[in-house]
Amino acid sequence: MFDKRIDAPAHTSPQSLNCPIVNKTWLAPHIVRLRFESELLSPLFQPGQFVNIKVSEQYIPLLRRPFSVHRVDPKGLWFEILVQVIGQGTARLAQYEVGDSISILGPLGNRFSIPRGCSEAILLAGGLGIAPLLFLAQMLHQRNISTKLFYGNKSHSNICCLEDFAELEIPYLLATDDGSRGFKGTVIDLFSQQRHQIQSPAPVIYACGPNPMFRQLQPLAARLGWTCQVSLETMMACGFGACLGCVVDSNDPLNPYKYVCKDGPVFNINEIDFSE
Ligand SMILES: Cc1cc2nc3c(=O)[nH]c(=O)nc-3n(C[C@H](O)[C@H](O)[C@H](O)COP(=O)(O)OP(=O)(O)OC[C@H]3O[C@@H](n4cnc5c(N)ncnc54)[C@H](O)[C@@H]3O)c2cc1C
Ligand code: FES
Repeated sequence: MFDKRIDAPAHTSPQSLNCPIVNKTWLAPHIVRLRFESELLSPLFQPGQFVNIKVSEQYIPLLRRPFSVHRVDPKGLWFEILVQVIGQGTARLAQYEVGDSISILGPLGNRFSIPRGCSEAILLAGGLGIAPLLFLAQMLHQRNISTKLFYGNKSHSNICCLEDFAELEIPYLLATDDGSRGFKGTVIDLFSQQRHQIQSPAPVIYACGPNPMFRQLQPLAARLGWTCQVSLETMMACGFGACLGCVVDSNDPLNPYKYVCKDGPVFNINEIDFSE
């Protein structure tokens, strides 16, 4: 089932459904993984896409909150999101328990693509950027594409999901800003130091993390001449192109703005102007 997804067009009409939570696991002090049962939604998701979740039955917070599709059951029965609690919406979401149902709008956005002939993939995750890369890793594994993960975090306590990548036989290298685990520095510093170990002449880089990470990656990817797809995060409201609230600067003078929800969240790194 997975293999067919990555070749299919990403534009399935989004649905809004109440999905029950069937599993809830705290992976780190502020990071929780929620599993939703939905035989309807799960088969529709493709790696890189996201859902917009109504986190409260009350008016506060009013707006839905976007989350990457983190992992999907190969049989299409459930899907998961990874939530980092940073404000009132994510705090509310983390209070739900198994058995509660939540309104989910999805699939939204475009997807990562795996070019034909791709023989090696490099995953670069910064912090919660690990979330969409696990779903992508499931697909790469199914296609027998050699994959390596470089994963950076502020400190060792925020690191999660390593056993899931290990299960997919994906080797990983870690970086932390404070040096509490792995390499001391950013994930791009680590990748830059280790890149000579990449064997394929034309690997594909898939990256997700904060904008400063992309600012550092953009010139490196250009120097290497390797294809690089990045998944962006911005503040969002509608999630499907109606409110124009998720704009980013593009490098195309004829089309100077991109909307992360409908043009992305996945872009070729060259498309976006990360200078600000
Ligand atoms: C396409 C997409 C995919 C995402 N995937 C995930 C995911 O898999 N897991 C996850 O935990 N989060 C993800 N996020 C971020 C998540 O949507 C926000 O953390 C969430 O909306 C914050 O809601 P809140 O009410 O808790 O925070 P708020 O109370 O709204 O804000 C708390 C603080 O966080 C800042 N903030 C809020 N949203 C963002 C954002 N999108 N980017 C940067 N700063 C922000 C605010 O400025 C404020 O300082 C994703 C965002 C996008 C756009
Ligand atoms: S979030 Fe409304 S246009 Fe992107």
